Amino acid sequence: MKKVGVAVLGLGVVGGGTCKILIDRKSQIAKEYGVDIDIAAVLDRVPERVTGLGLDLSILAKDIDEICANPSVDIVVECMGGTEPARTFLIKALEAGKSIVTSNKEMFAKFWPELEKAAQKTGAGLYYEATTGGGMPIIRTMTQAMQANGIQEIKTIINGTTNYILTRMSEEGADYQDVLKDAQALGYAEANPVADVEGYDSSYKLSILSSLAFNKRVPVELIYREGITKISKEDIKIAKEMGFVIKLLAIAKQKGKKIEARVHPVFLPKSHPLASVNGSFNAVFVVGDAVGDIMIYGRGAGALPTGSAIVSDIVFCARQVEHARYSEMFDVMDKSEIVSDFESEYYLRLSARDVSGVIADIATVFKKHKVSIAQMRQDENKEIIPIVFITHKTSENAMKSAIKDIENLPNVISVDNVIRVEK
Ligand code: HSE
Repeated sequence: MKKVGVAVLGLGVVGGGTCKILIDRKSQIAKEYGVDIDIAAVLDRVPERVTGLGLDLSILAKDIDEICANPSVDIVVECMGGTEPARTFLIKALEAGKSIVTSNKEMFAKFWPELEKAAQKTGAGLYYEATTGGGMPIIRTMTQAMQANGIQEIKTIINGTTNYILTRMSEEGADYQDVLKDAQALGYAEANPVADVEGYDSSYKLSILSSLAFNKRVPVELIYREGITKISKEDIKIAKEMGFVIKLLAIAKQKGKKIEARVHPVFLPKSHPLASVNGSFNAVFVVGDAVGDIMIYGRGAGALPTGSAIVSDIVFCARQVEHARYSEMFDVMDKSEIVSDFESEYYLRLSARDVSGVIADIATVFKKHKVSIAQMRQDENKEIIPIVFITHKTSENAMKSAIKDIENLPNVISVDNVIRVEK
């Protein structure tokens, strides 16, 4: 039977979960897939983590160079997170001819071409299922199961923290800040939540998915990004009353010769398949021109779900005769290939004085910018009133110009939020 040695860098939550699966399922994997996988080396600052997993301290390496020089190591599994030293360690491993498996979305999204270049020099493999969607097998679906399709669209809830926060805001009618604090206390949200709540994490994952979908690298910097920090309980309540839920979506679409790539909160009709994805769950909805709609649902984080994706990569990698190459990732999309003025329907909430002509003034601005109103509601009968509009499809630029003019109307106090509506 083929013997395969694995080195695990980082024995935190994900590295620990990976080792646990490799130990518990060793004989099952050998029986079912014909590969005998050994944890040949580990790298971590805390020796107790090694012994805590039932592993012998003799496999604890002193540095990455020792792992690269170890002939028993075939695959280096990176579970450290952060761009450095993860990137340097993986380049070293690839240059030493070791295949790599990583769960590090930020590092992978930013340095994919550099890793691919190093892998091509030695013929080593590059596997990254766990970077995107944790336990959801979306990468292999895109690379191994969609060959017959041109990908038309990807819509995904790809960040569990923000989905957890939005779900609780919706279920409890609670404020963003209160739910965030609670989520941090419960360990669902990081002490520094910026990467999640401002949409960076989703944009790294969308960069990876859309690059695979459109066979050309979509750099993170060109993905439009907006987080959930401005969503208020008023927006959540109004959405509910109007038959919508608010979700943070990552969206990529083929638009003629260009593509759209964006991360932002949306009003999503309650009937959309992604609307019922709640709590810390993730889901990805893909439209292929042959298969039509497909959807994958599952846990995007956690020791065993992410470990599941990593072990799947290890087994897949171990069975390859020749590793797939992604030279197309050297070719990078530029600004001109990405739609900047995309079209959408919009939800607009504003506060205005309840005086004669205020609606007429707003309607005049909409007319000037060719924005058509689909729905309007005025909630209460008091001096300052909240007014909500949902528009028909219009361009982002037209909407931005209309909002600027509306903010300057004498009886409009403030434009309180603008959220795109995704059907
Ligand atoms: N921070 C991510 C999330 C998990 O909240 O979904 C790891 O990608």
